[in-house]
Amino acid sequence: MALIAPSFLAADFLNLAQECRMLNESEADWFHLDVMDGRFVPNISFGLPVIEHIRKATKKICDVHLMIVEPEKFTEAFKKAGADLITVHIEACPHLHRNIQQIKSLDMLAGVAVNPHTPIDHLQDILQDIDVVNLMSVNPGFGGQEFIPHTLVKVRQLRKMIDEQGLSVKIQIDGGVTLKNAASILKAGADVLVVGSAIFRAADPKAAIHQLKQLKGR
Ligand code: DX5
Ligand code: ZN
Repeated sequence: MALIAPSFLAADFLNLAQECRMLNESEADWFHLDVMDGRFVPNISFGLPVIEHIRKATKKICDVHLMIVEPEKFTEAFKKAGADLITVHIEACPHLHRNIQQIKSLDMLAGVAVNPHTPIDHLQDILQDIDVVNLMSVNPGFGGQEFIPHTLVKVRQLRKMIDEQGLSVKIQIDGGVTLKNAASILKAGADVLVVGSAIFRAADPKAAIHQLKQLKGR
């Protein structure tokens, strides 16, 4: 069964307590929290204080997606704010292995995100050290964009790479996931679906999550 990670970028910021309650009552698995710095990506979202409050409102996994440069400066602060999983971008980390070591040393799960143009091969020598690969299926920075179809080719490649090495790294797909395309993404080999707009903008978000959970996973 696929894991569903609703992205708070599409949530109602004026009613975060209510959004958390709704997700706690739902079948959602992870809370996906998108942090942007206006440098690595051309947008700014929210940061530490917001995550600190969301942490207090849930027992579910807080999955923090850092779209920032120099994430090592903030790893400890995000741990303190309540992150269970920290994902950093391969394109933002010249010393990626060190970043992963740092996240692990703070007793968190570690993820690596790759932009749509970054080849899967670039993950070859870090795959054994991480828990999650976030394959971006849009260019990071904004919610509500359209899914880039070539992502499916990358999911299949990565699935093969993980299986051949006998690893249990999870493949997370992030951006433009909808009730329409989710089945084909799962069929290609994904484990975790990040879903923003298609959950929070749905007439009944809990029902949308339920429908996503009904889809056949790997
Ligand atoms: C984009 C973020 C995504 C985004 C997904 O930079 O990483 O998590 O919020 O939102 P939707 O599902 O609306 O594309
Ligand atoms: Zn994200």
